[in-house]
Amino acid sequence: MNDQVLRAVGIRKLFAGVPALDGVDLTVTPGRVTGLVGHNGAGKSTLLKVLSGAYTPDGGELLIGDQHVSFATPAAAIDAGISTVYQELSLLSNLTVTENTFLGRELRSRGVLAKRAMRRTTQELIERFGIEARAGRKVGEYPVATRQLLEIAIATSRNARFLLLDEPTTSLEGEQVESLLAVVKHLATEEGLGIVFINHKLDELFEVSDEVVALVDGRVQIQGPTDRVNRREVIRAIAGADLDEAEDDLSGAAELAASATDGVAGGIAIEVDHLRTNELDDVSLVAREGRVLGIYGLVGSGRTEFLRTLVGLYRLESGSIRLFGEPFQPKGPAEAQARGVVYLTEERKVDGIVPGLNSLTNVALPVLRQHARFGLLDRRGMRAQASELLSKLGIRGDVTAPVVQLSGGNQQKVLLARAIAQQPKVLLLDEPTKGVDLGVKAEIHALLRQLAHHSGLAVIVVSSEEEEVLEVADDVVTFAAGSCTGTTVPAANLTVTELRHAAWDAA
Ligand SMILES: Nc1ncnc2c1ncn2[C@@H]1O[C@H](COP(=O)(O)OP(=O)(O)OP(=O)(O)O)[C@@H](O)[C@H]1O
Ligand SMILES: [Mg+2]
Repeated sequence: MNDQVLRAVGIRKLFAGVPALDGVDLTVTPGRVTGLVGHNGAGKSTLLKVLSGAYTPDGGELLIGDQHVSFATPAAAIDAGISTVYQELSLLSNLTVTENTFLGRELRSRGVLAKRAMRRTTQELIERFGIEARAGRKVGEYPVATRQLLEIAIATSRNARFLLLDEPTTSLEGEQVESLLAVVKHLATEEGLGIVFINHKLDELFEVSDEVVALVDGRVQIQGPTDRVNRREVIRAIAGADLDEAEDDLSGAAELAASATDGVAGGIAIEVDHLRTNELDDVSLVAREGRVLGIYGLVGSGRTEFLRTLVGLYRLESGSIRLFGEPFQPKGPAEAQARGVVYLTEERKVDGIVPGLNSLTNVALPVLRQHARFGLLDRRGMRAQASELLSKLGIRGDVTAPVVQLSGGNQQKVLLARAIAQQPKVLLLDEPTKGVDLGVKAEIHALLRQLAHHSGLAVIVVSSEEEEVLEVADDVVTFAAGSCTGTTVPAANLTVTELRHAAWDAA
């Protein structure tokens, strides 16, 4: 019977002398879910990594029951029953699901790998979690959402007593989120695991958690049983402003932006006509200059594939794409960029952030590459511009240190800044605020609207969050089963429910 709690007491962790955690207490109780929330860079992932043996704390202690413990490596924490799913997915894409599941603890029978037994156990695990995958296939063959679920399933398969989940829902949507939350609840209540669940979305956090802890600048600011924690106070702690103020700011920005476009019908930037690819059935739509087009659809409706097709990552079978009236069929993102179409993928790792370079250089890099003979002054100018853009996006952390040292949400801001810095005419964004905290999200929406309405960009945003689509877009189109008719509806005329219905009806 597992009734011992895992406790962190007075944890301190410094990076280059700066505290990321400044005396944090946290209790993880078997059978309960602790929801951990906080602004980007608050120290959530760092706390998790201290609990999981990935970081050694500079102060404080860890206890399981009344035993002091310390983990020299993540393997030592796993042995003690602490299993972790990190913010950046870590399964190896070129290994099979089975190989990933048993990595470093392969089953053997008389010295020989027990391949069939491992595969069977893995398949059972996959099915128990209701994941659509095969044990013998390579992990890289599956979409991010599936990989995310596999990570969690595999983490629990290691005799875990405690499960630490760092933003496990960022790559999931709709029903996938619901089923993940149900799995988390089940693991706590039925299997007695003590769970830490990091998440920026308060709806999800409050739904699944028994207690809520809000971290601000490396300190616990709010803590208590979920039903006694005030959401508004959590938002105020994280965003540094009242909910009303934040909403006022936003609607102010939106009004300003809306008034700027009154009566202005921008020219056509992108025109897609009966597009067919391996992944898409029949897509037609128009994106205009000076407007934000929101693309909404259910999982697998083809939204991501569509953006990828626009920048040449998938081959057209038939149909056409025009860019400002000219045929547009780039061989890849580089050629698309040269013609003014910049694409931000939903996957940070794949999107080619250069880990060892600092944030300013990462933002300026594509532009500097394009103009290899930039003089010193221009470089300086570029860096100044990068720095301004990053502060507009509410970056927190040292922008002159290697970008990998930034928190996950702050790395996302760097990628977004890099896309904008290329001064595109058309900006294609797949889940632009993934992992971004709720305070900065509204500001990013306002910035995107400003780019469209004031600078005349055509912005296309794919998002699985209905609220985001409605907040950021002027017009909305829906995708279903690889098709889109191109009928746009003004976002202002839609509610979340109507948006969902539109997607279901189309499906
Ligand atoms: N390896 C590292 N080297 C230097 N600084 C680091 C390192 N890891 C984290 N930090 C810093 O510690 C602070 C806390 O980062 P952490 O990743 O814990 O934030 P977080 O709360 O998880 O944020 P997010 O919501 O963006 O994921 C940040 O200022 C970050 O830049
Ligand atoms: Mg984090």
